Amino acid sequence: MKIVNLIKDVKEEIRTYSGESIGFVPTMGYLHEGHLSLIRQSKKENRHTVVSIFVNPTQFGPAEDYDKYPRDIKRDERLMKELDVDLIFYPNTEEMYPKGFCTYVDVVRMGSVLCGQSRPTHFKGVTTVVIKLFNIIEPDIAYFGQKDAQQLIILKKMVEDLNLKVLIKAMPIVRDEDGLALSSRNSYLSKAEREAACFLPTALKKMQEQIRGG
Ligand code: PAF
Repeated sequence: MKIVNLIKDVKEEIRTYSGESIGFVPTMGYLHEGHLSLIRQSKKENRHTVVSIFVNPTQFGPAEDYDKYPRDIKRDERLMKELDVDLIFYPNTEEMYPKGFCTYVDVVRMGSVLCGQSRPTHFKGVTTVVIKLFNIIEPDIAYFGQKDAQQLIILKKMVEDLNLKVLIKAMPIVRDEDGLALSSRNSYLSKAEREAACFLPTALKKMQEQIRGG
């Protein structure tokens, strides 16, 4: 497993793959079983698997948790080594957004509803970093969890509208024993908050049963 920080080194490494299939799992690190399920799927379906770890500042609003977003690169490295990932791309902010950076990709309208109402710049930051990562890594398939449903739909739209060659694969939500969807940010929750959050999957499940039952 190789870890590289520079775009030119990723490109050089990718060249050695000589056109063999590349699966890509973009992450912000602090990996959990949800991320690992994406990596396992990529390993099954591709000759090479690349994972990026980058806490992307452009998808955080000014009052959001960019500084305290959980990070543990040593643990992430160990987990990825166990899964035999080929390449980790772990750039710093200057590498991804050099001084003077001013080009953004925005899937208009879709990014301003639902979560976008309270996070008006979030999805523009996601699409911008993801298209940059696609251009750097040039994957055949990229894997995203269905937990971030709006992100997934917006990324699929970006791929369609901009005629990108990558295939976006949606993977099922991975849940904890108490039903809560795994998320790096769950580490912020107190016991009481976690209990309250568990009402969400319980309510969703009930609604699903009722809809299915007519
Ligand atoms: O889902 C995430 O972890 C992030 O939004 C992503 C896709 C890695 C872009 O920073």
